[in-house]
Amino acid sequence: MSQDSVVYLNGAFLPISEAKISVLDRGFIFGDGVYEFVPVYHRRPFRLAQHLKRLENCLAAVGIANPKSTAEWEALFHEMIRRAPYEQQAVYLQVTRGVAPRDHPFPQGATPTVFMMVNPLKLPTPEQIEHGVACVSAEDFRWHRCDIKSISLIGNILLRQMSAEADAAETVLFRNGFLTEGSSSNVFAVKNGTILAPLRDHLILPGITYDAALEFAPKIGVPIETRPVSRAEVLAADELWLTSSGKEVLAITTLDGQPIGDGKPGAVFKKMWAYFQEQTKG
Ligand code: PDD
Repeated sequence: MSQDSVVYLNGAFLPISEAKISVLDRGFIFGDGVYEFVPVYHRRPFRLAQHLKRLENCLAAVGIANPKSTAEWEALFHEMIRRAPYEQQAVYLQVTRGVAPRDHPFPQGATPTVFMMVNPLKLPTPEQIEHGVACVSAEDFRWHRCDIKSISLIGNILLRQMSAEADAAETVLFRNGFLTEGSSSNVFAVKNGTILAPLRDHLILPGITYDAALEFAPKIGVPIETRPVSRAEVLAADELWLTSSGKEVLAITTLDGQPIGDGKPGAVFKKMWAYFQEQTKG
């Protein structure tokens, strides 16, 4: 993103170098806000309605009044997409509780801060798609409301740094011996041709790509079991995948240095990946 990229801040479109917020913004002081990350293919946002619905749910969960109607959000997305010079885009949006003297309880009468920017969409490389990626695992030490897409990402950042330092693509998280998700993605296992999906509960983000994968599975003839998935099942899986708005569907071929299945992206992954490409870029 260059210094003159146009961003949206509280009603204005302006170059990023001119976009300024108060140091008392609760996003800066407390990480008190929520966000969305929407992939855009050929200038069409993928599942925008679902992203806006999740945004609405997250704002409600943290008690921030939704500053815009769905129609206003849609219009703003389309304006940002129109202004950006890329065909494939990543639209980032965040809403914070606004500016107020530092005090933990919700301030009276603060106006939510709304910020949006567009970057080029960075998808997995052909090499990563063909060979899969290495991941490491860690105990999921985050809070118990991982279903909220909070901008307070210190837990996710510390966990992601573990894989970054191991030169791995993602950190796969387990809580009390059960798979939750990745530091910034959802995780699925495949065993004997069936997708094993962790429960969509408070311990994982309800990923838009997670939902898309579960919706696509019957269309490519793959059964799903949505239930707790143990660490032993993950280690013995035939396939392991990451999903997210930036990674789409990506095969994990080693976990903590041990091969998953035969150590290559599996047959079910290949079907899902191909179907995903059709839906997004076809
Ligand atoms: N991350 N789980 C976590 C913790 C995430 O941060 C994300 C997305 C997902 C996948 O959600 P979706 O399919 O809606 O992208 C799951 C985004 C991309 C990010 O933080 O940049």
